Amino acid sequence: MIRLEIKMDQYIIKGGKALAGEISVSWAKNAALGILAAAVMADETVTVENLPDIRDIDILLNAIASVGAVVERIDKHCVRINGGTVNTIIVANDNIRKIRGSYYLLGALLGKYKSAHVLLPGGCDIGSRPIDQHIKGFEALGATVRIQHGMIEAEAVDLVGNHIYLDMASVGATINIMMAAVMAEGQTIIENSAKEPHVVDVANFLNSMGANIKGAGTDVIRIVGVPKLHGSTYSIIPDQIEAGTFMIAAAATKGDVTVRNVIPRHMEALTAKLVELGAEVEEFDDAIRVVATKRLGSTQIKTLPYPGFPTDMQPQMTALLAVCAGTSIITEGIYENRFKYVDELARMGTNIKVEGNNAIVNGVAELTGASVVAPDLRAGAALVIAGLVAEGFTTIEQIRYVERGYECFEKKMRDLGADMEKMDSEDMKAVQKFKLKVG
Ligand code: EPZ
Repeated sequence: MIRLEIKMDQYIIKGGKALAGEISVSWAKNAALGILAAAVMADETVTVENLPDIRDIDILLNAIASVGAVVERIDKHCVRINGGTVNTIIVANDNIRKIRGSYYLLGALLGKYKSAHVLLPGGCDIGSRPIDQHIKGFEALGATVRIQHGMIEAEAVDLVGNHIYLDMASVGATINIMMAAVMAEGQTIIENSAKEPHVVDVANFLNSMGANIKGAGTDVIRIVGVPKLHGSTYSIIPDQIEAGTFMIAAAATKGDVTVRNVIPRHMEALTAKLVELGAEVEEFDDAIRVVATKRLGSTQIKTLPYPGFPTDMQPQMTALLAVCAGTSIITEGIYENRFKYVDELARMGTNIKVEGNNAIVNGVAELTGASVVAPDLRAGAALVIAGLVAEGFTTIEQIRYVERGYECFEKKMRDLGADMEKMDSEDMKAVQKFKLKVG
């Protein structure tokens, strides 16, 4: 069984040190979730390498095992899956509601067995997150979709390719429709498809299993149905959001950090903003160095689908702008409720006003450590960045959210010189010991 225990751990950080050195980022969570679900579509063994070792992956692998697939964890970063033994299309595993990526089992099981019943997905509480575009796509391929008793039930006699126009470039809907269409009869065209690197990675993975998908990474994806998919060995791409989080942390702490295992092209929106703020950013083949020697300036940012500035880096960027000179405006263009962490940042002395989808960030000269609570994954990462900048000690509770998406976060920060530990919230002795150690 894969570990799923939840401990009441917290991060404790003594801020004020400039991050320096090199770290290597892990592999993309949001690609991995699509790829693991898609792996059940073959009746042969699929080996997925470069798996991030994070909680969301454990939850999805448990759900995949719960439908009868063989799931063999070779090590932390590699798994073998064989979907030939799947014996049910019902995914009722309670944990699955905690993650968003659970809905990829809908597209995968529907595409392979023409029937899938999956508990409605959860994920970070950052907005209403409807799935109407997924449903529209499944229906266009010939499925009947019902939501009852908390389950989404998709059933089809035959899946037949169709022309689907997405109302918005949804990552989840694009991936789900691709999976439902790969074994459908004839051609499917998805227009206004999402162009995120993880969409391309899932398409490449499906193609490595014998699918015929063209155009992933553009806004028109064409899929010609094939009778079946075969086994494959595939390596996931690096995590663009983790890389960005370290780049922002380097800039916020006035550090000098080289982030390795990066595809610099995926980072262009962030790189451009960091340069505009006054940081030095140097790109290598698979690494990016960020150097900030002075207090950075202000900017305006709107989050948009890729290649625009990612919503998943909005909270971390807000934490940086909170200590930059001048007033910045951040407009959240994807989710209606992704500024909830601003109240937590305020405990550390930030001056940010939220008006609708805009955060008006008045940069302050310094922050002071405080006890805060992570409201969701990326917001938790933003609080860590603020804690690294703040004078004194910061404790961050509810870090199980952060651990959903960041592998060995505290260790990687320590490797860059940060004073940061993970410990049991109740263990006052450990807290004292840390405080004595870092002074
Ligand atoms: C994915 O969520 C990511 N999650 C999110 O990652 C990320 O924030 C988001 O894409 C945007 O990049 C996974 O990949 C598991 P969407 P997803 O469908 O697929 C609206 C993280 O921190 N919409 O692209 O659920 C929706 O409400 C996270 O790692 C509909 O209205 O996002 C949103 O406003 C959190 N109807 C926008 O589209 C639909 O049917 C984009 O959502 C689908 C989406």
